[in-house]
Amino acid sequence: MNFEDVLKKRRSVRRYRDTPIPRESILKVLEAARIAPSAGHRQPWHFIVVQDRGTREKLAGRSNWAADAPVMIVGLADAEASPSWCYNDLGIAFEHVVLAATDLGLGTCWMGQTRRDAEVREILGVPDRFKVIALTPIGVPDEVPGPKERKSIKEIVSWERFGGKPD
Ligand SMILES: Cc1cc2nc3c(=O)[nH]c(=O)nc-3n(C[C@H](O)[C@H](O)[C@H](O)COP(=O)(O)O)c2cc1C
Repeated sequence: MNFEDVLKKRRSVRRYRDTPIPRESILKVLEAARIAPSAGHRQPWHFIVVQDRGTREKLAGRSNWAADAPVMIVGLADAEASPSWCYNDLGIAFEHVVLAATDLGLGTCWMGQTRRDAEVREILGVPDRFKVIALTPIGVPDEVPGPKERKSIKEIVSWERFGGKPD
């Protein structure tokens, strides 16, 4: 898939088939995270690959559709390795995960987990130095999400200074 297609095809998928995902695809997605940029090259992240159905159900919580995907990846930020930047860095690496999965034709859905930090920490045995930031199911999509309005370029961009218009 070319880059523009990956960007446009990435959507939050909330219905999955239980088709297994080859280990090779999981590794490709993790490799995309591994090579992400990070402040001071500290790479303050850790990823947990969850395939066990029972654990996926616990992680999905009320979003039970998320447990239908055969794989979940949980993104942790290492707050000891990079206290100021670990959240930014994890966000970048996690988006690499999502885009790499899209490129393989797989569905994902960013699910913010900061409010469930304690619960997820308990389920997965996460050490204290890591903050639980996000998880995503990864699986073969069983839906094509409908179009979604985006803010226009005009609404989100200034030129030269805040509020500035283009020439
Ligand atoms: C940081 C973050 C947290 C999100 N958390 C959730 C979530 O908990 N549950 C969910 O269903 N979607 C979640 N989403 C997905 C957003 O709802 C989705 O990205 C947004 O509506 C735009 O739709 P799209 O991803 O299909 O383009 C999250 C997205 C981001 C970036």
